[in-house]
Amino acid sequence: MRTQRNLSKILGLLGLLILLVSCQQKKEKPLEEIVENQLPPIDLVAHGKYMVDVLGCADCHTPKKMTDMGPVLDMEKYLMGYDSSQEMPPVPENVPIGPWVLFKGDLTAAVGPWGNLLLG
Ligand code: HEC
Repeated sequence: MRTQRNLSKILGLLGLLILLVSCQQKKEKPLEEIVENQLPPIDLVAHGKYMVDVLGCADCHTPKKMTDMGPVLDMEKYLMGYDSSQEMPPVPENVPIGPWVLFKGDLTAAVGPWGNLLLG
C-alpha cells in the first residue's frame, strides 16, 4: 500500500516535470517570418544599381568621352560595353600573349591571356 502511494507520488511529480518542461519550450518561428521581420524591404532595382555603382562596373563597361576635366563616363552609352560603331583598335604585335591584360584607353576592350581581343 505504502509502495503504491510512493509510486503515484513519483508519477505525479514526473507528470508535473514533463508539463513544466513542455511549457518552457518556445515555439520556433518559420524562417520566412524571421527574415521578413529583420530585413527592411528593399527596392531590388535600386539595390542592383547601387551594387553596380559601388563595384565600379561602369569603369570598364561604359565608353568614355573626353572633357576639360579628362575622360568621363559617356552616360548616353552607360554600360553598353565596347562601342561597336568605333573601329576596334589593333592588337599591338610587340605585346606577347602571356599573363597580361592590356586594355584599350577607355577600358571597354582588352586582350589577355585568353589570346583574343574581348569586349567588356
Ligand atoms: C577592370 C575592368 C572591368 C571591370 C571593373 C568590370 N569588368 Fe566586366 N569585363 C571586363 C572585361 C575585360 C571583360 C571581358 C573579358 C572576358 O570575357 O574574359 C568583362 C566581361 C564581363 C561580362 C561578360 C560579358 C560577355 O559578353 O560575356 C560581364 C557579364 C561583366 N563583365 C560584368 C561585370 C560586372 C557586373 C562588373 C561589376 C561588378 C564588371 N563586369 C566590372 C572588364 C571589367
